[in-house]
Amino acid sequence: MSPRGYGTNGLPPASRCGLLGNVAAMEIREVAVVGLGTMGAGIAEVFARAGIGVVAIETDPGALARGMGMLEASLTRAVSRGKLSEADKDAILGRVRPAAGFSAAATVDLAIEAVPERMEIKRQVFAELDRVCSPEAILATNTSSLSVTSIACETRDPDRVVGLHFFNPAPVMRLVEVVSTVVTADGLADGMAALVRHLGKTPVEVADRAGFVANTLLLPYLNHAVRLLETGYASREDIDTAATAGIGLPMGPLALLDLIGLDTSLSILEVLSGELGGSRYAPAALLRRLVSAGRTGRKSGEGIYRYRGAAGGAQEAGFREGNGAVGPVPSTVTLISSGRAADAELASAAAAAGVNITRNPAHASDLVVIAAAPDEKVLPTAVQVGRASQAVGLHRWGADLAEVVSTGLTGTHAAASGAALAGRLGLTAVHAPDRPGFLVGALLYPHLADAVRMVQDGYATVSDVDNAMTLGCGYPLGPFGLLDQVGGQVVLDGLQAMHGAYADPAYAPPPLLAEHVAASLSFSEGSGGSSPRASTAG
Ligand code: 3HC
Repeated sequence: MSPRGYGTNGLPPASRCGLLGNVAAMEIREVAVVGLGTMGAGIAEVFARAGIGVVAIETDPGALARGMGMLEASLTRAVSRGKLSEADKDAILGRVRPAAGFSAAATVDLAIEAVPERMEIKRQVFAELDRVCSPEAILATNTSSLSVTSIACETRDPDRVVGLHFFNPAPVMRLVEVVSTVVTADGLADGMAALVRHLGKTPVEVADRAGFVANTLLLPYLNHAVRLLETGYASREDIDTAATAGIGLPMGPLALLDLIGLDTSLSILEVLSGELGGSRYAPAALLRRLVSAGRTGRKSGEGIYRYRGAAGGAQEAGFREGNGAVGPVPSTVTLISSGRAADAELASAAAAAGVNITRNPAHASDLVVIAAAPDEKVLPTAVQVGRASQAVGLHRWGADLAEVVSTGLTGTHAAASGAALAGRLGLTAVHAPDRPGFLVGALLYPHLADAVRMVQDGYATVSDVDNAMTLGCGYPLGPFGLLDQVGGQVVLDGLQAMHGAYADPAYAPPPLLAEHVAASLSFSEGSGGSSPRASTAG
């Protein structure tokens, strides 16, 4: 992907600064990374791996030691996986000079700040950098959401300040958002993009807007997952499994929150909420409570999950709770079909797995399975069949996942038996309530609606959004690729059902989606989102 803008500031760039404007990647010989937390340590590793000297500045000696420990652990892991030689590891570490004070930044060509997401801390750091760095040095912030313009304007020379937004884990994720402001020197963002390419990453130049592109889309989705957890909608394991086995994402949203840090995520949401408003951005109460309790995620050893091992190298302890029991496999199942092709597949798969199928509700059976659709309720059919406590809905997502849907009348034995049946069919089961979208749709449809709104409101293009999420967050397909895969009509129906049930404006289908569905247009081809390829909806 070639670097280009997500959007422009709409103003001509600042004009000072031939020197900064002509910065070339190879002219950056030494950088300072200020703040050696998860992101700072990762960023230091990225630069040192690219052959650039790094001054790693952390004023708290304990944090400095922990940060250097994280960097070393990451390199050791690469050695143990055969990706790096011991000699290369030593050479990389040799390029990183730990320092407990800002004066060490006096000689650097570029200083990158990666301290916590609080404006007063950032201001202090930039005041120090302004004081010690040479006038030619470039100052960058790795802020996830704070205004780069506000940070820049606190400094003596705002035109030399840019955002360089890395993604966690920095050594792995390919995207770097290069953020310029209305006062950034002409050409500086292009120079930084060249540097990013030299680091082996993909730069995308973005304007200074809250959350840029990736976080504005990612954080409300993660926040929604916490809401589903705190309201008892689903267990944390089922929420994460719905995202990985159902949507195909590399991590579930709750595990990803632990990786990013719950405190960082909370700070980003607070900024987004302040700027954008609405229920999607207002931080979930559970997120606040966990942060207050010091459960900030992997780095503290405990967040939504618990980890063992040192910060940064934490391993999930592997304890699982509340994942819904799996009961005995039913020997006879009453299958209530709605006549879809998928229902016939379900019947033949069950028969092939040695489960007897009857379609007559009056016949005795161990379980009633209602073939379910995420925009329809299971309960009316369960009541109509007359055996509601023995009835579950079953809904397939993709090749691997089955949502076992419990109504308010479903007994625990039936829910467990439904999960066992799914397991017998070779599917991963998650439990979901009888609510619109069940579990996967409840997570995915609003996320896709947010993506469509971004394009609809001129915030980003279709390819900006898809690139941000594939390169920055490891999505196998971007949101628009997913939308076309699931089907615009399916997503539209799901959103309408969710909006009808909860009356939350965040679930109202965006007009652009409705227009595309009405015209059978797909989003994923063509950056304008108006490719004439027929939608897969149906
Ligand atoms: N540091 C360095 N390297 C790491 C790492 C870490 N913390 N975690 C994993 N890796 C490396 C491994 O060494 C391995 O490298 P190799 O392929 O060269 O051997 C590779 O990543 C894959 O790791 P694993 O096999 O152990 O694990 P997975 O295949 O499960 O991948 C993952 C782990 C890369 C984290 C993957 O799950 C993923 O892509 N998750 C999504 C992460 C994401 O969304 N990040 C963005 C968050 S938003 C953000 O950061 C913005 C901020 O502002 C909030």
